[in-house]
Amino acid sequence: MPKRDFRRILDFSTDEVRHVLELARDLKREVATKRFTPRLKDRVLAMLFEKPSLRTRCTFEIAMIQMGGTAIYLGPSEIGIGKRESVYDIAKNLERWFDLVMIRTFAQKNVDELAQHCSLPVINALSDFSHPCQVMADFLTVLEKRGSFDGFKLAYLGDGNNVCHSLLAMTARLGTELRIASPKAYAPQTQWLDEIRDEAKRTGARIVVTEDPAEAVRDVEAIYTDVWASMGKEAEAQARRSVFEPYQLNAALARGARPDAWIMHDLPAHRGEEITDEMMDSPRSIVFDQAENRLHAQKAIMVFLDERRA
Ligand code: CP
Ligand code: NVA
Repeated sequence: MPKRDFRRILDFSTDEVRHVLELARDLKREVATKRFTPRLKDRVLAMLFEKPSLRTRCTFEIAMIQMGGTAIYLGPSEIGIGKRESVYDIAKNLERWFDLVMIRTFAQKNVDELAQHCSLPVINALSDFSHPCQVMADFLTVLEKRGSFDGFKLAYLGDGNNVCHSLLAMTARLGTELRIASPKAYAPQTQWLDEIRDEAKRTGARIVVTEDPAEAVRDVEAIYTDVWASMGKEAEAQARRSVFEPYQLNAALARGARPDAWIMHDLPAHRGEEITDEMMDSPRSIVFDQAENRLHAQKAIMVFLDERRA
């Protein structure tokens, strides 16, 4: 069986996504008793980070500890991906020592090349293009709250970024509905939208892209937002603020959604920018459930990939 990677959501079929989500729910049940099955006993995970992290680093590392394995953190100053050493050479080293690899990087190309050249399963823990682990956790959260994905309608406000791209892919895979509102210059990539729309036809997913935030939130069950300037775009933060202001997730905008609509954010949040305190701290906010579920979703992703190792 060829090894499998999780470079993007579309690496998993609809059935596989559903399987991983079910597995994540099973693994989460072990938390109550703290009796964890050592599913990754003696496995070692390499964690390559070119960017900062709270949730990703903690949840991957805790996942490995709880499943009987170990994780080794390699930060930006250690690896120098493509600078100190080529991605190819990094891949060829890692496969001699480790069992699984996780990478957080700028270029999606680095994730793809690492996966191509490394004989180990490679997991994308965020690139400029996508953030599939986040979105697996997000949809685990939705599944727990509503029991199924039938008829699920989500709005996404703001930057058509990595998180937005992965939400598009998951929507297409599961046949749900995603309504995106972004300023024109910050819409999701056109080429990606075309690819996603093809997949959406197969699953019956509905994708709406608009510049009007009120249109996007109309009648949805959940509203999701993310920072206006992602990691690596900090220099643009000031300029982006005025363009994105109408897309702030606040009470006035949320009134257009269903009265009990959930508030979602991948975190870190810039309170007072893309989301108000009132929304972050509202009883309908599920942002910390999303963060918690990173642990369980990633456990399931790693177990799934480990079971299919070459
Ligand atoms: N949501 C997320 O990936 O958080 P970190 O950047 O803290 O890992
Ligand atoms: N879009 C954000 C997500 C952070 C988890 C970023 O890339 O910085």
